[in-house]
Amino acid sequence: MKIDSSTRILLTGASGGIGTHLCEVLARTGAHLMLVANPGVDLRIVQKRVIELGGKADYLVADLRTDEGITSTVDETLRVLGGIDILINNAGIEYTIAYHELPEQDMLDVMNVNLIAAMRLTRRLLPSMLGQKKGHIVCMSSLAGRAAPAYQEPYAASKAGLVAFTYSLRATYRGSGVSASVICPGFVDTGIYQRLCEKTGMKAPSLLGSSKVEAVGRALLRAIASDIPDVLVNPIPVRPLLALAQLFPKLGEKLIIATGGHEFFRRVAERLKTN
Ligand SMILES: NC(=O)c1ccc[n+]([C@@H]2O[C@H](COP(=O)([O-])OP(=O)(O)OC[C@H]3O[C@@H](n4cnc5c(N)ncnc54)[C@H](OP(=O)(O)O)[C@@H]3O)[C@@H](O)[C@H]2O)c1
Repeated sequence: MKIDSSTRILLTGASGGIGTHLCEVLARTGAHLMLVANPGVDLRIVQKRVIELGGKADYLVADLRTDEGITSTVDETLRVLGGIDILINNAGIEYTIAYHELPEQDMLDVMNVNLIAAMRLTRRLLPSMLGQKKGHIVCMSSLAGRAAPAYQEPYAASKAGLVAFTYSLRATYRGSGVSASVICPGFVDTGIYQRLCEKTGMKAPSLLGSSKVEAVGRALLRAIASDIPDVLVNPIPVRPLLALAQLFPKLGEKLIIATGGHEFFRRVAERLKTN
């Protein structure tokens, strides 16, 4: 799908590290954005930036864990934008902690923000897209959804869920004009990962590296323009490793251990506990 000044976009997680950059990228197309976050204290600043860059923007503070948050997001988006062409499910949270020590409510919050909100928003906005025979849904997953790092159970499960959800949507709505893409970044030098580094003094394992946020912006535009099912964003190509792990799970598990990803999160969890 081509994005231009007539395109109406709902972007969740708009005030975060990746979300703010996606806003800038989309603003340059002239599109009209509905920005959602919670508590969303920076949304007004992001709105101003979008307008400076040539886009249009409205914003809404909505807690996507709740029924009210989902309903107000859908209603306000359709009312203010007059419809929807692109939904970007980008809001996300994570906890790095041994699974048995994670409070159950935190586990539910991760699933609700990362996966269930994306599924609920998509379900409610699909009729609008199908009616106009045009629409694209983008889910911001993570390499964690493919490689399942240690100390990240709910996060990895929610992100793996987004991958399956996206492929299923593509299969159901094939030929309808509505499609979906999933983006799986590894470590990105902003937002969640940047805060982990600041809190713990740790850096991503050198075998995996970290990406600049601009790479995620490019992946988003490419996925929508060329209707790509699934884009991995990582400085070092990881698809061959993931393919090998699919073919030979035991060997794959050893190779993933060798990247240092599990050990990184084990040490982060340790440091967060003692901080
Ligand atoms: N950074 C990375 O290394 C990385 C790597 C792979 C994938 N990702 C994924 O990329 C997405 C963005 O990550 P990020 O690093 O930019 O994270 P971030 O800076 O923490 O931003 C998260 C965004 O989600 C919003 N949010 C959190 N809880 C919410 C809720 N209950 N209801 C509505 N909005 C809520 C936040 O709002 P407030 O600003 O108001 O708190 C913020 O706008 C996430 O899905 C993340 O899993 C990130």
